[in-house]
Amino acid sequence: MLLKNKQSPQHFDIQKSILSTDSQFWVSNVNFQSISTSFLTVKSKEIMKEKNIQIGVQHIRYSKNKFICFTNAFLTILRNKKQEIIGIQLQKIENKIEVYGQIQNWIGILMKECISLDFISNYNIVQLIGSGSTANVYQVRSKIDGLDCAIKVFDKEQFDQDYSIKQSILFEIQYLKLLSHPNIVKYLGVYESNTQIIIILEYLAGGDLKSNLEDKQIGEDQIKIIMKSILGGIEQMHKLGIFHRDIKKCNIMLRNQNSYDSICLIDFGLAEKANQENNYLFKYCGTPGCVAPEILRKQKYGLKVDIYSVGILCYQLMFQKDPFKSNTTKEIIVKNFLGNIDLPMTTSISKNGINFLIGLLQIDPKIRFSATQALNHSFLQDKITLSRNNNVSYKKKESIKLKPIIYHNSRNISPYNISKTSPCKFYLKTQRSTSSKYDKLQNESTKIVSKSFLLKNYQKMNTK
Ligand SMILES: Nc1ncnc2c1ncn2[C@@H]1O[C@H](COP(=O)(O)OP(=O)(O)O)[C@@H](O)[C@H]1O
Ligand SMILES: [Mg+2]
Repeated sequence: MLLKNKQSPQHFDIQKSILSTDSQFWVSNVNFQSISTSFLTVKSKEIMKEKNIQIGVQHIRYSKNKFICFTNAFLTILRNKKQEIIGIQLQKIENKIEVYGQIQNWIGILMKECISLDFISNYNIVQLIGSGSTANVYQVRSKIDGLDCAIKVFDKEQFDQDYSIKQSILFEIQYLKLLSHPNIVKYLGVYESNTQIIIILEYLAGGDLKSNLEDKQIGEDQIKIIMKSILGGIEQMHKLGIFHRDIKKCNIMLRNQNSYDSICLIDFGLAEKANQENNYLFKYCGTPGCVAPEILRKQKYGLKVDIYSVGILCYQLMFQKDPFKSNTTKEIIVKNFLGNIDLPMTTSISKNGINFLIGLLQIDPKIRFSATQALNHSFLQDKITLSRNNNVSYKKKESIKLKPIIYHNSRNISPYNISKTSPCKFYLKTQRSTSSKYDKLQNESTKIVSKSFLLKNYQKMNTK
C-alpha cells in the first residue's frame, strides 16, 4: 500500500488535489502574532531577496502589511544533493514562493497547516502497526527531525467506489487539526500524492488500552485516572460540537506504557459535528457492544453517544467483562439495542463508582451525564491513593474483537424496523434488584430480541 508513488512531487498535479481549498496566497490586514523571526533568502517571481521574515500560526509576514496565508498551501521541503534541507517551497494554484536558509524550526509549524508533498524524501518506514478497512497505519522515522511518527495511509482509489470514505477522511483531518488536548493524539500534518493521502500523527509508544489491560485487573484508582483522562479529551471535543462515535479500548492509546494519565483518543474516522437535524454522513455506525442505544434505535442523537461508550468502557474496566457479551455480532447488537445491563455483585467497586457508572450508562440521553457532569462527579473528584495503583491482578483473556460498523445507505433504514416509540424498556440491574424482578426483565427482553430477529429488515452491515 505504501511507497506507491515514487515520483517526485512535481509529478503531483495540484489541480487534482482533494485537500486544497480555494484560498488566497497573498493577503493583507491580518491579525498577526509572530512565533519566530529569521533572516532568510526569498525567491518570488524569479527575484531573490534577503530579508527578515516572521512566521505565525497561519501566516508569514513578508513585509509590513503583506502576508502569505499558508493554510492549505502545498509545501515542499527543498534539499541539496547531499539531501540536506536548504529551504522550503510554498505554492497555491497561481502563486509560489521559495525560502532558503535556517528554517528547520519553521517546518513543524508549516506542516500542520499545509498539504505536504514528497513523503518519500522525508520519512523512513519502521514498521506496519495497524491495518483497517480504509487505512494502514505505520510507524515511521522523520528525516527532518529524527523523531518517530505514526502515519495513516489512505489509497485514493477507494474514493471512486465510495464518496463517503473521502468525506470521512476530510472530516478526520479537519477535526484532528482543530483539536488540541493532552488526551487527544497530536496531528502533525498531511501529505498528498496522486494516489494517496497520508495523515501524520504523533507516535504513541505505549500501545492501546486493550493490549495494556489484556490480562490485568486494575484497581478503582486507576479506573478513575483513565476516566478522567478520556473524559477530559471528550469534553474538549464536545465543546467544539464534535462527537467521536467509536470510543473503545482499541481507539484509546497510551503515550507511555502503563501510564494511564498519558491516555490519548485516536481514530477520528467516524467523528462528525453533532446537529439538530440528525443529518450525518454515517448515521448507523459504531462498534457493536460499545454504541449508544439511540443510534441503533434510529432515534435522533447527539454528543452524548460518546458518554455511553465511555460507560461501556468503564463497565469493562470495573468488571473485566463486556456488558453485552454474546457469541454472535447479531446478538451483541440486539443486547446493545435493548441496553439491559447487569451490574455484577462486587465489593471491589465503591458505591460511588457504581453511581458514576449508572450516570454514564443511562439509556435516556437527557438523563445521561454530559462529559462535564461526569468529570464533576464525586467519584472522579475523590482523592486518588496512588499506592493502590500498583496492585494489578491478572484475569483470563477475553477474545472478542469487534470492528466498527456502518449501515450503508442507512439514512432511513433501521436495522430492526422498530420505531422510535418502541415500547422496549431499559433497565440497569442494580445490586439490590430482586431475582424475580430480574427474571421478568430477562423474559421481556428475550421476547423483544426474538421479535427483532423475525424482522426481515436486518440489513447487511459493512465494516469501516
Ligand atoms: N498515533 C498512533 N501511534 C501508534 N499507533 C497508532 C496510532 N494511531 C493508530 N495506531 C495504531 O493503528 C491502529 C489503527 O488506527 P486507527 O486510527 O484506529 O484506524 P482504523 O480506522 O483503521 O481503526 C490503532 O488501533 C493502533 O494500533
Ligand atoms: Mg480504530
